[in-house]
Amino acid sequence: MKREWIAELSTSRMVLRPLELGDAAQVQPLFAQWDVVKYLNGKVPWPFPEDGVLQYYRDVALPAMERGEEWHWTLRLKTAPEVVIGAIGLMRSDAVGNPEQNNRGFWLDPKWQGQGLMTEAVLAVNDYWFEVLGFEKLRAPKAVVNVASSAISRKTGMRLVEVKMSEYVSGRLETEVWEMTREEWKSSKLAKGSELAS
Ligand SMILES: CC(C)(COP(=O)(O)OP(=O)(O)OC[C@H]1O[C@@H](n2cnc3c(N)ncnc32)[C@H](O)[C@@H]1OP(=O)(O)O)[C@@H](O)C(=O)NCCC(=O)NCCS
Repeated sequence: MKREWIAELSTSRMVLRPLELGDAAQVQPLFAQWDVVKYLNGKVPWPFPEDGVLQYYRDVALPAMERGEEWHWTLRLKTAPEVVIGAIGLMRSDAVGNPEQNNRGFWLDPKWQGQGLMTEAVLAVNDYWFEVLGFEKLRAPKAVVNVASSAISRKTGMRLVEVKMSEYVSGRLETEVWEMTREEWKSSKLAKGSELAS
């Protein structure tokens, strides 16, 4: 699967634009905030290097997109599409450097949190994972203390399958592993449809 297969996605309030190297300068100050990184994987360096986003995009994310192992988008409000407010990405379980078999990661500038925006982005990329990329299962480990992230898993139809310890930027924390099968994804979409109809 190749880079050009990554589509721009759209939700009711946002555009999800495939990641580009040119986004790095804008993303650097947004990402390098303690409240953004504290519950991310322990491989993320802290203090965060001044060119950390550029390095990550150039050496890790974009090559993985080229290999067809990862799919990353920046999040932008439709009312201001030139401004990045966060990012979301999907990863194959067998991708290079994915020992946790984590299939999805996301973060949002704290200024924009608490408005349901990441739930919207998650629903769009879940559809992409199952419908376009054709995977059978989506898995997402997260720190138990990261209640906002767990709430997103729960309300988008995922199931808690395992509790274990993992390394985060904050240190060693209890982790919940959430999962969703293709069948569960289909049922959650049907349930959403009937909610809208009623
Ligand atoms: C996780 C994150 C992306 C959530 O983004 P968001 O746009 O604020 O999320 P949403 O508004 O779509 O949904 C968050 C849900 O968590 C709930 N929530 C948030 N804080 C909560 C708390 N302290 N206790 C209980 N629920 C909480 C919200 O109420 C909301 O659920 P609701 O819509 O049913 O009310 C954001 O907090 C973030 O960027 N965190 C830093 C990066 C990170 O941790 N990424 C995830 C790594 S696994």
